[in-house]
Amino acid sequence: MSSASAAPQKYQLFIDGQFVDSESGKTFKTPNPATGDTLAEVAEADKADIDKAVGAARRAFEGKWSKLSARDRGRLLYKLSQLIEQHSADLAALETADNGKPIKESLYVDLPQVVENFEYFAGWATKIEGETIPVPGKMFNYTLREPIGVCGQIIPWNFPLLMAAWKLAPALAAGNTVVLKPAEQTPVGAMELAKLIQEAGFPEGVVNIVPGYGETAGAALASHPGIDKIAFTGSTEVGKLIAKSAADNLTKVSLELGGKAPNIVFADSDIEQAVAGAMMGIFYNQGQVCCAGSRLFVEESVKDEFLGKLSDKAGKIAVGDPMNKSTQMGPQVSEEQLNRIKGYVDIAREEGATVVAGGATPQLEGAFQKGYFFSPTIFAEVKNSMRVAQEEIFGPVVSVISFKDEDDLIKQANDTIYGLSAGIWTKDITRAHRFAKEIKAGVIWINTYNMFNAASPFGGYKQSGYGREMGRHALDLYTQVKSVWVDLSGRPIGWFGK
Ligand code: NAI
Ligand code: MG
Repeated sequence: MSSASAAPQKYQLFIDGQFVDSESGKTFKTPNPATGDTLAEVAEADKADIDKAVGAARRAFEGKWSKLSARDRGRLLYKLSQLIEQHSADLAALETADNGKPIKESLYVDLPQVVENFEYFAGWATKIEGETIPVPGKMFNYTLREPIGVCGQIIPWNFPLLMAAWKLAPALAAGNTVVLKPAEQTPVGAMELAKLIQEAGFPEGVVNIVPGYGETAGAALASHPGIDKIAFTGSTEVGKLIAKSAADNLTKVSLELGGKAPNIVFADSDIEQAVAGAMMGIFYNQGQVCCAGSRLFVEESVKDEFLGKLSDKAGKIAVGDPMNKSTQMGPQVSEEQLNRIKGYVDIAREEGATVVAGGATPQLEGAFQKGYFFSPTIFAEVKNSMRVAQEEIFGPVVSVISFKDEDDLIKQANDTIYGLSAGIWTKDITRAHRFAKEIKAGVIWINTYNMFNAASPFGGYKQSGYGREMGRHALDLYTQVKSVWVDLSGRPIGWFGK
């Protein structure tokens, strides 16, 4: 396994169990966002490579993979989880070099969750079962739960390895084969994972990993007539394109898209806990989180106290070299994302919000001056109708909106095209559960935020997508049900028989 600080690494595509160049011979470079230096040069997949990968996945699905027992599939997944665990330190360092997230996060959060997801779904492989249905008459009816087939999976750059795990683990546990396209910003983790998939001994073609750009490789995969299912995590804009192209072949689709989560602080909450939760909600992973608590609703009576504490703490976040274990915030993933955030700061000012913390790039030294850093930023005096409260910024930028009335608050909290998650801070359990019921979102956190477990489902309401990843629900995305009828009477069907 390569080290993050070495000269640029080279990666090829992983197709049919082999590492190969792209058909065009083209490559692209992925920078280290902390310095802008080239981290790796990666083979660039396009339509021809996607065709090859889909072909390999089809052969594997109809061949060796379908002949393997569920137990053997589970054992391969478990072996992979162990290999990932053994290589965690190197993988975490590469993840941080490719994405910019603090090493503390990649090593102690991302990698353990990657391992957990493969481990969890390894256990499911032998537990995917059909049912018997009590139909009337001399008939026996049962169901088979079968894999869907060849799955295209397109993932984003904010949690590169973890998103690969969320997608691969349930698909493979259920007996599907996969063509996975990592994001062009962060292909390294998935290519390192490919090495471990090979080492674990998965039959060739079961997993194919094809880095490339969205408009080329991604679009070719999503519209490919040879895939049976497409799973996507990323922007709502691209999610709509994926759904449209999948419609042509009626490919099954699951989408995990954007968010603009309300994180709601009541005056009766433990304010210290709520401040820490608000920080976790918006500044974790540089704010590049689909379920980020980016609309912070604070009850008017505690607004000044809360905002004072929040700004104070935001100003003390250690921004800098993500390889340093004490760093709490690294760079944004790309210059494009950095510019997008800067654009939203201008929009907020034009709309009449006030910047009470951050709002600019931090002063860093040496090589990090060229990194894509942005300071933790708080907008106050925001109205829910403003663009900064309605559009996903995907950076360390929170919009604070004050409220007085609970009914009005619920209306505002739900007044968004998104519905991925929500947070509530209060000591009143009646109110907490009332909110959990009334907020239209797929995940609710009460007096906590950003909690995840491989066993607990995650996914969106409204334009945050459809389908649930993780937990037993993820198996619904990767299996289909067959109903089998058996005559027990031994007599001809009466209808036309006589
Ligand atoms: P994106 O949605 O364009 O990229 C996500 C993935 O989709 C990447 O692998 C990309 O190559 C692929 N892709 C892009 N265009 C495609 C197409 N036409 N067909 C098939 N695949 C395609 O997201 P992007 O441009 O990197 O970020 C823009 C915004 O999207 C962010 O600012 C954020 O608001 C949102 N986003 C949300 C994420 C989430 O977890 N929900 C993750 C990443 C971005
Ligand atoms: Mg894009």
